[in-house]
Amino acid sequence: MALEKDAGRFPLSAEKMPKHIAIIMDGNGRWAKKRGLPRKAGHKAGAETLEKIISAARELGLEHLTVYAFSTENWKRSQEEVDAIMNLLRQYLKNYFKKFIKDDVRMDVIGDIRRLDADIQKQIIEIEQLSMEKTGLFVHIALNYGGRDELRRAMTKIAQEAAEGRLLPEEMTEDCIAGYLDTAGTPDPELVIRTSGEERISNFLLWQSAYSEFYFCDTLWPDFTKTELEKAIFAYQNRERRFGGR
Ligand code: FPP
Repeated sequence: MALEKDAGRFPLSAEKMPKHIAIIMDGNGRWAKKRGLPRKAGHKAGAETLEKIISAARELGLEHLTVYAFSTENWKRSQEEVDAIMNLLRQYLKNYFKKFIKDDVRMDVIGDIRRLDADIQKQIIEIEQLSMEKTGLFVHIALNYGGRDELRRAMTKIAQEAAEGRLLPEEMTEDCIAGYLDTAGTPDPELVIRTSGEERISNFLLWQSAYSEFYFCDTLWPDFTKTELEKAIFAYQNRERRFGGR
């Protein structure tokens, strides 16, 4: 919130706008703890922030926004917390995304949705289909997602195709591998943001972030704002990207 005083301080170049930003939304639990609230209150506040950041991303003209909402490791949390996040997700899919579809926002899920409850899987498929024609902003929600699990699932499919003689070893280009990932068809994120002061990738977009710029900030996710997003983009625009060259 403190950053709101900075509104307008980060003039962005339209030419150097990233097409795709990915966010590790971290710090909901600490945000709640600081206020003496249960962790689920932090997730609820985090879901509200996500809604605002989707609108901000749309206003800034981003093409893709990927958010890490639930990792393959998050099942290890207490059943109470997992249930709270899943219930939040149900509400989110029901309310927010219907609203976003009206705003030309497309949505899909990356991750293995087969482990999610059947009603949530149904909601996801429905929204993916309902929003398919939308061209404004494409929001990718990572649910039961892990970069290693995504690669494992892709390799299983590749091995199957190879065993059935439909894929030859010499056809295994990087583009071919990318086509088997959950993110097939989506450009790699130029910028990955992580909130809450942690500076790890935590199994997020391992393949896709090979050349991404990383931006870490101390703000806890529920306090993240459009201005902070602009600040991250501003920092990105002022970096030199060399992709391994000189
Ligand atoms: C990380 O904070 C956050 C999560 C594991 C869940 C992310 C969920 C949301 C932002 C809201 C839900 C959105 C949808 C669409 C369901 P943490 O709990 O690890 O925080 P901590 O590190 O402070 O404990």
